[in-house]
Amino acid sequence: MEIKFDFNNFMAEFIGNKNGISESEVNNFKNKAKKIHKDLMEKREKGELPFFDLPYQDKLAEEIEKTADDISKRFDYFIVLGIGGSALGGIALHTAINHPYYNQLSNEKRNFRPKIYFLDNIDPVFISSIFDVIDLEKSCFNVISKSGGTAETASQFLIFLNKLKNTLGNASYKKHIITTTDAKKGKLREITDKEGFLNFVIPAGVGGRFSVFTPVGLLPSAITGIDIKELLKGAAEMDKKCQNENIWENPAYLNAIFHYIFDIEKQKNISVMMPYSNSLKDIADWYRQLWAESLGKKFNLKNEIVNTGQTPVKALGVTDQHSQLQLYVEGPDDKVITFLTVDNYKSIMEIPLEYKEIKDISYLSGHTLNELIKAERDATELTLTKNHKPNCNIIFPEVNEYTVGQILYMFEVQTAFAGGLYNINPFDQPGVEEGKHFAYGILGRKGFEHKKEEIEKRTPKKDKWVI
Ligand code: PA5
Repeated sequence: MEIKFDFNNFMAEFIGNKNGISESEVNNFKNKAKKIHKDLMEKREKGELPFFDLPYQDKLAEEIEKTADDISKRFDYFIVLGIGGSALGGIALHTAINHPYYNQLSNEKRNFRPKIYFLDNIDPVFISSIFDVIDLEKSCFNVISKSGGTAETASQFLIFLNKLKNTLGNASYKKHIITTTDAKKGKLREITDKEGFLNFVIPAGVGGRFSVFTPVGLLPSAITGIDIKELLKGAAEMDKKCQNENIWENPAYLNAIFHYIFDIEKQKNISVMMPYSNSLKDIADWYRQLWAESLGKKFNLKNEIVNTGQTPVKALGVTDQHSQLQLYVEGPDDKVITFLTVDNYKSIMEIPLEYKEIKDISYLSGHTLNELIKAERDATELTLTKNHKPNCNIIFPEVNEYTVGQILYMFEVQTAFAGGLYNINPFDQPGVEEGKHFAYGILGRKGFEHKKEEIEKRTPKKDKWVI
């Protein structure tokens, strides 16, 4: 059961020469692709890009499943504290695989698995309101932070730790906390070792946005009963395809090349991902971070200012046909659109016959929602194509662990390869770090006094420009 990449509507034959791409334009990248492939494979071989090897972790998967079974027996609520790459993978998997109303299901329908919450923000209302829906005594908190020092996650950790201590006492609060962090570095590791918290490791060299196949994504998934071994199998299946040097047979390389040409040569600097499935909508969110944080760079590897990166936008079919599509069809010619579509949804819903005499409505009867969503997606594709807008389709035979494993892995390789095309480092995020450091300065963290000074030296905002 393999996902398919249909790129017909990227081609000049379908959308015209101005916006479309010819086979020979892609072939022009053969040599460059060869070099990037060699570089990636050498780094992989040397263990410098460990995200490549994450599909092959059967032992870890066993261990996580065991822990997840045990946690499920002991707790009714599983709360993930983490942000960015430490949350988006887990959220994407939960939305993709689990029941859309998972937390509202009865215990029986959840297979007696805990309800799950991802607290990936520090909005005080969002955080404090969790106490209205959980019972602390039956809650397990998974603190996820690679660096172990992210202010958002650290402050959440302090809040829930304090609550646990006050409510349950010093004897048992530790049993309610699992940490997921670096094996050696960071304050969360230090605290974990001191407290003796149950913990899982994020391998060194795997950044947040490439960590979905580490315990970051695997533990929360296993807690809710997602088959993480099948997920890894899907990733491994895609890994086989992505090791192919032939760009026409490697969907990750090919899609990276298309996006690069669209961005650099065709001025399409916005990459829209539009799943036609609610289950896949948070994959678009996950992709948004991956594509944005990895490729949005000021400097290239030669230290020249390049300001690269496409802006990723997430949309949802059919919902955003009634919100964004007008812009995509008639607005600026600056977008490349990726549909995610599903051949076989988990349910089939028939549209019943009512108001037979009202022809403008009764034509729907006898069809299914499955047919309707497919017709609407096909129609959207046709409209965009007719208007010369580049669009492609990634087709899921079904949404399950195996196919989701494939797509996530494919986008990771695509991003790493695109880093080579742009000649930037796709694995760092200096712009985000700068923001973090300013926040530390404002809050008076030791060692960041210089950032506070920098802020204080800035021209103060003018009142007349705030109305
Ligand atoms: O992808 C990334 O590197 C970031 O989004 C991080 O995951 C995010 O900033 C959280 O960092 P940490 O896991 O160190 O708390």
